[in-house]
Amino acid sequence: RQQQLRDDAELMAQCTKYFQHQLKHHSDSAKAINYLKQRGLSGETVKRFQIGYASSDWDGILKTFAKNDQQRQQLVDLKLVNRNDNGRHYDFFRDRIMFPIHDRRGRVVGFGGRVIDSDGPKYLNSPETRLFHKGHELYGFWQLQQKRQKPAQVVIVEGYMDVVGLAQAGIDYSVASLGTATTTEQLQRLFRTTSKVVCCYDGDRAGRDAAWRALENALPLLKDGVDMRFLFLPDGQDPDSLVREQGAKEFEKKLGESVSFIDYFFEHLLADIDPSSETGRSQLLSQAKPKIEKVASDFYREALMEKLAEWLRREK
Ligand code: UTP
Ligand code: MN
Ligand code: MN
Ligand code: MN
Ligand code: MN
Repeated sequence: RQQQLRDDAELMAQCTKYFQHQLKHHSDSAKAINYLKQRGLSGETVKRFQIGYASSDWDGILKTFAKNDQQRQQLVDLKLVNRNDNGRHYDFFRDRIMFPIHDRRGRVVGFGGRVIDSDGPKYLNSPETRLFHKGHELYGFWQLQQKRQKPAQVVIVEGYMDVVGLAQAGIDYSVASLGTATTTEQLQRLFRTTSKVVCCYDGDRAGRDAAWRALENALPLLKDGVDMRFLFLPDGQDPDSLVREQGAKEFEKKLGESVSFIDYFFEHLLADIDPSSETGRSQLLSQAKPKIEKVASDFYREALMEKLAEWLRREK
């Protein structure tokens, strides 16, 4: 089993190199390179994140790495190759920009692939495999750990391009939670590396929902000295688009103006509750209290209870 994990990791590393090689040398690579340029990425950034290209060929990976049945099965297990109902095999990722996802030790455990100009979902991600467990991994975490110093803060964003675009602008302390809600496990890992986390999701409905779920998942981790903050972007923006339009300085300024989890907690609840009525106040109490009780730090719990009490005392 240990041996298999090592073999899997080796194969994933080779596929990463293969996609990187295709980005330089495949006959269709110009459109991939142009796309990356058009997104403002330098060769250095592309290299740092080991970004590659999966061509529209149906058998690039298959031909290169499936030398026998066992190897082919391994590719199927790692979801780099699909088998259809007729028993035909073909590459899983086709005509996509490839973002390798590293685990915290630097092994590639999965990929995200972005379409360039064909149809299909914008991003295709490796499904769960024996190597890849979505809720555990954070895109960009390994790159973050490569830095000499622990970061003073980490920004959590939604997407691959947000991490890469921010890094391109010089903000090299962000990670992405891979499209799902940021899990307690992911947050736990982050709080071992830094004491300050800023959630900065897309300025849309999905992004706002993701922020609240991240806070819910973080409650048991909010110990003394831990700082969790929220930055809400204008509708239609994400960290990548914002930093491209307004620059790193402006983005960092906005980070400085992010709201604390305590303020966000009440802002969020009070968006749907009218505390000027008794019914409203009772709703606020019943929604807030069970959540506040989950908070790890006595200090933060007290601070939240204090604010709650203030709202409950307000008559109008
Ligand atoms: P977004 O939908 O915000 O990506 O998804 P985007 O900002 O429009 O993409 P770009 O900037 O044009 O490239 C954010 C993240 O959600 C996941 C991916 O992890 C993506 O990076 N996602 C999104 C998927 O897994 N599948 C999708 O079809 C879309
Ligand atoms: Mn989108
Ligand atoms: Mn979005
Ligand atoms: Mn985007
Ligand atoms: Mn986005």
